[in-house]
Amino acid sequence: MLLNLKLKIKSRFISEFKTEPLLVFSPGRINLIGEHTDYNNGFVFPAAIDKGIVVAIHKSESNTSSIIAVDEDERYDFSLNSISPIKNGGWKNYALGVISEIRKTGHQIENFNLVFGGDIPNGAGVSSSAALENSIAFALNELFHLGLTKKDLIYISQKAEHNYVGVKCGIMDQYASMFGVKNAAIMLDCENLEAKTVTLNLDGYSLLLVNSNVKHSLAESAYNERRKTCEEVALKLNVKSLRHATLQNLVSLKIGLTDDEYQKALYVIQENQRVLNAYEAILENNMQKLGDLLYDSHNGLKNQYKVSCEELDFLVEKAKKSNAVIGARMMGGGFGGCTINIIKTNLVEEFKKEIVNSYEQKFNVICSFYSVNLSEGTKLI
Ligand code: GLA
Repeated sequence: MLLNLKLKIKSRFISEFKTEPLLVFSPGRINLIGEHTDYNNGFVFPAAIDKGIVVAIHKSESNTSSIIAVDEDERYDFSLNSISPIKNGGWKNYALGVISEIRKTGHQIENFNLVFGGDIPNGAGVSSSAALENSIAFALNELFHLGLTKKDLIYISQKAEHNYVGVKCGIMDQYASMFGVKNAAIMLDCENLEAKTVTLNLDGYSLLLVNSNVKHSLAESAYNERRKTCEEVALKLNVKSLRHATLQNLVSLKIGLTDDEYQKALYVIQENQRVLNAYEAILENNMQKLGDLLYDSHNGLKNQYKVSCEELDFLVEKAKKSNAVIGARMMGGGFGGCTINIIKTNLVEEFKKEIVNSYEQKFNVICSFYSVNLSEGTKLI
């Protein structure tokens, strides 16, 4: 797959710009557990996947730069001297944001031509956005020998999303996409980026993503609102972030919190603990325990943190009823995108058939499926 994508992007670059480009691949990510905990400085458990974005890049002799988005069939020519966020600019804001944030670190770049395309769908919750940011940041760093580290690059990507796209995301997606390890998931402490890498040997089970193929429009504002609520509660609890809040803190202050604030903070405290428990479950090779934690996580995301939606809840309920799946939950920011399922490998096809029909009947939408392999992070190819 990656080979085909690489050839496609490379040949498009050569036909447009008549020169051999530098090529970069940045993967999307899954997240086993630990949702909406990253911007609370908590724990997450993501992994990079074998699907993502390929960038082809080369210096340009002209006095403008050009970016071609192959999948959107769009071309954008611009001057490096006049960069600012574009209203409803879509993919352009990711690219411009990265350029702007690189400059803020004091590094200069010259004109370039860039072509990109991918094999992860937008809005599926597998972070095509972090893959795009990281691939461009990494490519510019290589092309202009900026000497930025991978760690510098993920913060550049994250700030591009904050300042140009307007989503106040945490660091999980950029980290996973940059630092992914083949066949492994990474338990990451978002307070200090300390990472524990575990090889994921699912022993007769597989990871299956089911894409609801819906994306509800309130997702971005709802995301930022959640973050704000968490920061306000942390302030009231007198802790640096909800990572440092305990159940006792929360209960003792319950009276000063609205029910909504209480439930959201409680969710974060519990989800952090679930990530730690999931890490243990994997070390013990206890798949059932891991599966139960996924269901509990979904329950919290739905009822306490309130970032799920009817379609995702339906998919998780179906998974619960099927004897093929031992754990499932919505994945990513919410309000659409994928569920992640731990499923008995020999029952995958049967489960797909079961779910595709009932989902279509209920929502008049076809869901899609991705089996993913855990892969390396951002790299030259
Ligand atoms: C999005 C954000 C991440 C993270 C998840 C929810 O993917 O980009 O930083 O907050 O949502 O866990």
